[in-house]
Amino acid sequence: MDTKFIKKEDGEKGILEAARLLKNGELVAIPTETVYGLAANALDGDAVEKIFLAKGRPQDNPLIVHISQTDEILPLVEGFDDRAKALAEAFWPGPLTIILPKSERIPTQVSAGLDTVAVRMPSHPTARAIIKACGFPLAAPSANTSGKPSPTSAAHVMDDMNGKIAAVVDGGNCDVGIESTVITLAQNTPRILRPGGITHEQLESVLGNVEIDKAVFKALENDEKVLSPGMKYKHYSPNARVIIVKGSLENFAKFAADRQEKTCVVCFDGEERAMSVPAFSYGHADNPQEQARELFDVLRRVDDENMELALVRFPSLDGVGIAVYNRLLRAAGFEVVEL
Ligand code: TXA
Ligand code: MG
Repeated sequence: MDTKFIKKEDGEKGILEAARLLKNGELVAIPTETVYGLAANALDGDAVEKIFLAKGRPQDNPLIVHISQTDEILPLVEGFDDRAKALAEAFWPGPLTIILPKSERIPTQVSAGLDTVAVRMPSHPTARAIIKACGFPLAAPSANTSGKPSPTSAAHVMDDMNGKIAAVVDGGNCDVGIESTVITLAQNTPRILRPGGITHEQLESVLGNVEIDKAVFKALENDEKVLSPGMKYKHYSPNARVIIVKGSLENFAKFAADRQEKTCVVCFDGEERAMSVPAFSYGHADNPQEQARELFDVLRRVDDENMELALVRFPSLDGVGIAVYNRLLRAAGFEVVEL
């Protein structure tokens, strides 16, 4: 299949072309403020099935449904309660996904057999314009091959999906750079299943007590029950082995210099000169937003340079830094070294 590249300059025409393909049951990668999504008509189970094939995604991992305005959630869920309303009011459009009991409109392919559905209203104007032009919600996981780092540019999407999907819509580099926060309201106490652009503190300021699922920072045992199936899988990984390293800059640089493998480092801006191996920086040490924005691009560059090992400076844990650490832990298969 020829994958069409829809350019920013195509404007309204490009949006209508993307909508036409989606109405035909095709897959189109679309920009969002978090990462690029691989979209299909969320109400068409056959179209949604193609997403799993293109990504090589495990069948038991449910998808997020994207809407362009808040009232579009009403037919998709069973009960849009006060808590959900308050969250939507505070954080939509934006990087927050809300899980609620699903209505019968949601095909089983979307919910992967669960009785809940995840819904999000992205803030990227192109994403919302495409949903509007379609007239139906879009199911969209991140537009990467399953297991790989999520795409934060149209070029990343082409690297993984060229030839497998109908089109990619270029909307520039993603502002947030990591995926949305996923919170479930399908239980008494709201719980964060995946940290992201909206922080725990922000959520508690609206809802009061919010739990954080233990899978956020911990590898799960094989037989452990998970609320969010996505947490089970190895994720965001380059081909290179990734290790998160905690310690002073000097000790870090020495540790990297002593490795036998083809090694690179992922360090903070301004630290490159202290390194004797190739260095990729992912933002300033005290700026978790920058680290989020640049992380996935850097992980992809590690593979472009055919590295065997990437040693990553321990990220800031402030605000969105928790989400950066969560992604790094998965990329590293939970390998953390303290010097
Ligand atoms: O920012 C984002 O959320 C991006 C953009 C494209 O919107 N999408 C995204 O989708 O990250 P995906 O499929 O890569 O991640 C969705 C996560 C998975 O961990 C999945 O298991 C979880 O959300 N999820 C989806 N529906 C769920 C449900 N009903 N119950 C529990 N977890 C669910
Ligand atoms: Mg994903």
